[in-house]
Amino acid sequence: MELIKFDAAHSGVTITEQMKAEAAAANALLHSGKGAGNDFLGWVSLPSSIDEQELTAIENVAAKLRGKAEIVICIGIGGSYLGAKAVLEAMTDSFESIKKHHDNPTILFAGENISEDYTYELLAATAERSIAAIVISKSGTTTEPAIAFRLIKAEIEKRYGKAEAAERIVAITDKARGALKTLADKEGYPTFVIPDNVGGRYSVLTPVGLLPLAVAGVDIRALVAGACDMESLCGEKTPVEENPAAQYAIVRNAIYRSGKKIEILGSYEPKLLYVAEWWKQLYGESEGKEGKGIFPASVTLTADLHSMGQYIQEGERTLFETIISVAESKHTVRVETDSENLDGLNFLAGKRISEINKMAELGVRIAHVDGGVPNMRVEIARIDERTIGQLLYFFEKACGISGYLLGVNPFNQPGVEAYKKNMFALLDKPGYEEESKKIKARL
Ligand code: PA5
Repeated sequence: MELIKFDAAHSGVTITEQMKAEAAAANALLHSGKGAGNDFLGWVSLPSSIDEQELTAIENVAAKLRGKAEIVICIGIGGSYLGAKAVLEAMTDSFESIKKHHDNPTILFAGENISEDYTYELLAATAERSIAAIVISKSGTTTEPAIAFRLIKAEIEKRYGKAEAAERIVAITDKARGALKTLADKEGYPTFVIPDNVGGRYSVLTPVGLLPLAVAGVDIRALVAGACDMESLCGEKTPVEENPAAQYAIVRNAIYRSGKKIEILGSYEPKLLYVAEWWKQLYGESEGKEGKGIFPASVTLTADLHSMGQYIQEGERTLFETIISVAESKHTVRVETDSENLDGLNFLAGKRISEINKMAELGVRIAHVDGGVPNMRVEIARIDERTIGQLLYFFEKACGISGYLLGVNPFNQPGVEAYKKNMFALLDKPGYEEESKKIKARL
């Protein structure tokens, strides 16, 4: 089994004994449960603890939804959305939506925005097709998915009646608390539990990610197996020299301490765009607090070389980048010879597109390093469930270690509350009368 390779040769950082000791201590804290946020460490040993019974239960419910619906609407936001979206995009043919025949139900997402037009268009687009829904909220009280679910639940009940709605709606939430749990119990929806000790952004390998992915036909067993590969490689007993997650955490913190505050995650495979979105949420919510933290940004290449590329090469020198490099493509496409060669491209004739892509990647790395942008590389063998599972756990483990190196609690998100308070006050939510007066006076 090929494993993720981490390469910091162009980062400008030499890993010292002191850094290794700090990272080993941070990793040990994740395992001993003695660090900040220790209520939320369930993800550390999650991959290896997923048992046959749990996988079978997820696959059975997925099979039922697959049998009933052409479209399954997945409702959730943040960690209750991005993991499934990231893996789904990575595993899906780029042109699936225009194919005439689909082997799997289409997964659509809702509740990750409050756009009226998006909501209208989603309901309109699904009007002629059979639908089901998976509603996901750990707290069970998040406003955005709750609004979307109210509308989609009403639509399902209108079309199929209440009894059948309970066959077409699955809830994934806390085992005991929250409005969604109360509602699911009352309506008799099949329910999966998000473990208490797994926070939203670390929940992709719970039913939060696994159920929608199983519905979409993704091999969730291979995904979990990939995560298990990294759970053992990045474990407490692995020396830092052999632990890619610890090395990544060390190097990004060393660069941050040298004054570079923005990390750009890039990839030359457009399918990995949402892996970068998931990564941004994981690192942004975990590290951006107490006036500290690397700002996580992302680019898709080579497209963004023709937009952000100018800034990365020559703008303010506060950036560093991490590239997810994919060693081999799934398909083969070669550049053909053209007898007229009017476009001057015959020097590429016979080459695979992936060879050209790789030379772009290498050329960009050298250009960016020359331009003062330190580079790290995370190489996966190819894009499949196993390697994506590896990548997810690699980034999770590195994030936990990195948060501790930074000196923050990587498992809370107190800053997310500020906007909610203001929004509720502006919407006159009962209980917010005082805040409402104050905020309206400021408009
Ligand atoms: O990582 C997190 O905890 C958050 O991003 C949550 O996943 C997000 O706010 C959604 O929360 P919930 O699942 O409670 O609706």
